[in-house]
Amino acid sequence: MTVKSLQDLLNEGVEGRHVLVRSDFNVPLNDAREITDAGRINASLPTIKALVEGGARVILMAHLGRPKGEVNEKFSLAPVAEALSEALGQYVALAGDVVGEDAHERANGLNDGDVLLLENVRFDPRETSKDEAERGEFADQLVALAAENGAFVSDGFGVVHRAQASVYDVAKRLPHYAGTLVQKEIDVLKKVVENPERPYVVVLGGAKVSDKLGVIEALAAKADKLIIGGGMCYTFLAAQGINVQKSLLQEEQIDKCKELLATYGDKLVLPVDLIAATEFGADAENKVVELDGIPEGWMSLDVGPKTVEKFAGVLKTAKTVFWNGPMGVFEFEAFSKGTRGVAEAIIEATANGAFSVVGGGDSAAAVRLLGLDEEGFSHISTGGGASLEYLEGKELPGVKVLES
Ligand code: 3PG
Repeated sequence: MTVKSLQDLLNEGVEGRHVLVRSDFNVPLNDAREITDAGRINASLPTIKALVEGGARVILMAHLGRPKGEVNEKFSLAPVAEALSEALGQYVALAGDVVGEDAHERANGLNDGDVLLLENVRFDPRETSKDEAERGEFADQLVALAAENGAFVSDGFGVVHRAQASVYDVAKRLPHYAGTLVQKEIDVLKKVVENPERPYVVVLGGAKVSDKLGVIEALAAKADKLIIGGGMCYTFLAAQGINVQKSLLQEEQIDKCKELLATYGDKLVLPVDLIAATEFGADAENKVVELDGIPEGWMSLDVGPKTVEKFAGVLKTAKTVFWNGPMGVFEFEAFSKGTRGVAEAIIEATANGAFSVVGGGDSAAAVRLLGLDEEGFSHISTGGGASLEYLEGKELPGVKVLES
């Protein structure tokens, strides 16, 4: 089945038409509610600009965080509306609600080329409901904002793995098209999934091993080497009998990690040293330790220098690299060396001809926050969970729905 593209929609003509666009504006914010990494906003601009230039009346739908179906100012998209206005060079109004009176009034008042952002779609519990009828009711109300002759463009690659109302159910109700970002992401990831040049090395990090067990199993079978660092490595180390002290640990996953080590031991590459700290904090006292040398009551917050060397050695030979998840608490300078070291090794492999993809929110943000060269990678994906699920071989509901 073919998927219609944004270009198809532009060819049909969008002037004067209301076009609902699902974007992923789930950006990191600091305590002052300032955006610390605008990567996802920047990646959404080509689709929005093309629609504006075509004279569409653009209605953007997006979520921020997980407000659990309740209106909560902390999760308002206000900072996004401001950043978008600046990036687009035109005012982007933020509706005071999602499908309420204000959203309707503003949608009705749009002129050709105007852009409206609805408030966080997750302020409405029906957005993420497991009940299709409830989601459908909400989707009907979103679609009603688009009036006659509306269209839907799916461009939030980071959320296409979620069968949620603004991603999935709206597509069932309107002529639907894949935006340029969704199309580009799928094209790149397809290359990694279908025909990776070997050696194919996957680097996984991040906090939760349970979220990534399926991925580890699926990728261990496909990749030549699977490097494991970050918060998830401590459960693997514990499975090898190492006392990780107060490091992040998912005890209920230890047996599963033992199984994975028994089955794929020759492919899994684990740390050989760590950076232990007295507590979780930017200024915590810290030192490099051997695996079994974390002092009592301390925790590891990064992989050590010998580990970086070991990981870099594996990455050096790679022809395809997929990286998801930081190696340590990179937001704190003292614990950013593991992530920086791995990123630099991937950049070097890329310079030597490897095809490299950085998958996801945290690792993509790390690349930018650490001031690394974004051009040094073949592709930086905007989707964390979405890219992992795609690589795992799972069907992405938000993409599948565009095929029909
Ligand atoms: C992400 O940050 O990966 C996407 O925006 C999806 O967010 P979610 O995991 O809360 O659905």
